[in-house]
Amino acid sequence: MKRLAVCGSTGSIGVSTLDVVLRNRSRYEIFALTAHSNVDKLAAQCRLWRPRFAVMSDESAAMRLAAVLSTEGVETRVLAGASGLVQVAMHPDVDYVMAAIVGGAGLMPSIAAARSGKRILLANKEALVMAGRLFMDAVREGGAELLPIDSEHNAIFQCLPALNSDRGERGVSRILLTGSGGPFRARKPESLHDVTPDEACAHPNWSMGRKISVDSATMMNKGLEVIEACRLFDVDPGSVEVVVHPQSVVHSMVEYGDGSVLAQLGNPDMRTPIAHALAWPDRIASGVAPLDLVSTSRLDFEAPDFDRFPCLRLGFEVAEAGGAAPAALNAANEVAVDAFLNRRLRFTRIARVAEATVAACAGEGPGTLDDVLDLDRRARARAAEFVRAMSS
Ligand SMILES: NC(=O)c1ccc[n+]([C@@H]2O[C@H](COP(=O)([O-])OP(=O)(O)OC[C@H]3O[C@@H](n4cnc5c(N)ncnc54)[C@H](OP(=O)(O)O)[C@@H]3O)[C@@H](O)[C@H]2O)c1
Repeated sequence: MKRLAVCGSTGSIGVSTLDVVLRNRSRYEIFALTAHSNVDKLAAQCRLWRPRFAVMSDESAAMRLAAVLSTEGVETRVLAGASGLVQVAMHPDVDYVMAAIVGGAGLMPSIAAARSGKRILLANKEALVMAGRLFMDAVREGGAELLPIDSEHNAIFQCLPALNSDRGERGVSRILLTGSGGPFRARKPESLHDVTPDEACAHPNWSMGRKISVDSATMMNKGLEVIEACRLFDVDPGSVEVVVHPQSVVHSMVEYGDGSVLAQLGNPDMRTPIAHALAWPDRIASGVAPLDLVSTSRLDFEAPDFDRFPCLRLGFEVAEAGGAAPAALNAANEVAVDAFLNRRLRFTRIARVAEATVAACAGEGPGTLDDVLDLDRRARARAAEFVRAMSS
């Protein structure tokens, strides 16, 4: 029986995780659930799962949750704030941590889990983009296991013989990262100026939280994933190629020097990578319908259009540049996407805010986690200035 802390349990990945656990209750116990401010949803999850801890990063929401649970006699202990997230992620009774908080807020709990030697199921790519080498060092030094949840990286993980074996011996020549191209793959670039948040969040294949949905529409998500792949699999950006694959059935591929290409296929449902990472190296039921290749019938692949999707080009440039650029890119993107979702910035200006912020924050890579947090704060402040200038 493995004890699980689900960080971000009220989100899209969190809910899918609980669905997989429900199907495998004899293997996993829910030890902690966390959310930001959605009291009703976390209260409902606590009623069902009776975890030892529930954490709300918003302190007033935590007080409301504690009141609801005590009235109902639910014995879950409620913690508040960022320190509560860290406390459950490193708790000695926790075996696995699902890192499914959206954005930079997920960094510190993931680092805490890494330092405490947990199995980390990493959905929160932003943390890895921000902290890069420091994150990977914490995993290695803490003796943690890092299992990717992003469907692409999980696919690559499945197509690699061993994560930590020597790359030369593995004979890997390229990583082929697939992406659907999002809702605007075929839209004329000049028509993107006026798109609304709801249009941007209407992904053709995946049902996801709003931030990652916008990232998919700009293809910043793929840009962040290029950086994530370089960190996770210790490859150069030049060895990563993005291939647009509208059906989202081939989740990514690994090409070997002998001409072999290994791919992982499946229906587009995050419960597959979640189940894989929970059970690895075993396999468990995920609830995902079997892939029907005959009804899928065709698999298309295209080269990405870097003019239509400047965020993808920027992702590659930032991966090459390294230093302060990845953390600055992530911070700027979070600020710009939030402004877009709140109708303070046009869709097409997300890329411009990101590009301007990366240029303004160029410099050495952060040497410590405090440096990461400082860089993140500075980049957010610069990005907010660019948002103000570009929204007028
Ligand atoms: N959804 C997918 O299919 C998918 C696929 C691959 C990777 N990912 C990655 O997985 C992560 C989660 O994505 P998602 O789509 O599940 O997001 P989501 O649906 O928006 O859920 C986000 C979760 O994080 C919590 N949260 C938000 N702000 C927080 C803060 N400041 N401090 C602590 N917790 C906070 C939310 O709590 P409240 O509900 O209280 O706001 C919620 O539980 C992202 O990094 C994303 O890139 C997602």
